[in-house]
Amino acid sequence: MNPQEKEKMYHTVNSQLRGLIDGVPHLIANLSNASALLNQALTDINWVGFYLMEDGKLVLGPFQGKPACIEIRVGRGVCGTAVEKDETMLVENVHDFPGHIACDSASNSEIVVPIHANGEVVGVLDIDSPSFSRFDTEDQKGLEEFVKILETIFV
Ligand code: SME
Repeated sequence: MNPQEKEKMYHTVNSQLRGLIDGVPHLIANLSNASALLNQALTDINWVGFYLMEDGKLVLGPFQGKPACIEIRVGRGVCGTAVEKDETMLVENVHDFPGHIACDSASNSEIVVPIHANGEVVGVLDIDSPSFSRFDTEDQKGLEEFVKILETIFV
C-alpha cells in the first residue's frame, strides 16, 4: 500500500470509528468494536488491542488475537515504555527492543500509541505484526488520529 492509499484507508477507518462510538457510552463495548475494526482494516497484523491503566499498571483490555499477558508494569516492554515516555513507540524489530514482552512468538514489529484522558495516560493501543518494519509514520499518523477519536469516550 503506497502512502496515499494508506492515508485514505485511515481516513475511512477513522470515519467508521466515529460512527461506531457515536452515542455509545460503554467503554468496553467501544474498545471491543475499535479492536475489531482495526483487525478487519489492517493487513499483516497478528494482534491488536488495548491495555488500560489500573492501580498504576497496564491491564489487558479488549483485543483481537492470541491470549496475551494480563499485566504490564510501567517502564516494561514496548507498552510500558510508551506509557513511561508518554510517546508512540514504533518498533521495527521487537527482538532488538530491550525488555520486549513476547506474547505471541509470531510478532516481529509493533506500534504502541498512548491514550490520554484529563492530561494523563490511561492506556495504550498496541498492534503487532509478523513482518519486520510493518508500521511507518503514515500508520503512526493514522493511529494517533484513531486514538484521539477514542479519547473522547474516556471522560
Ligand atoms: N509486546 C508487548 C506486550 C503486549 S503483546 O504484544 C500483546 C510489549 O512488549 O509491551
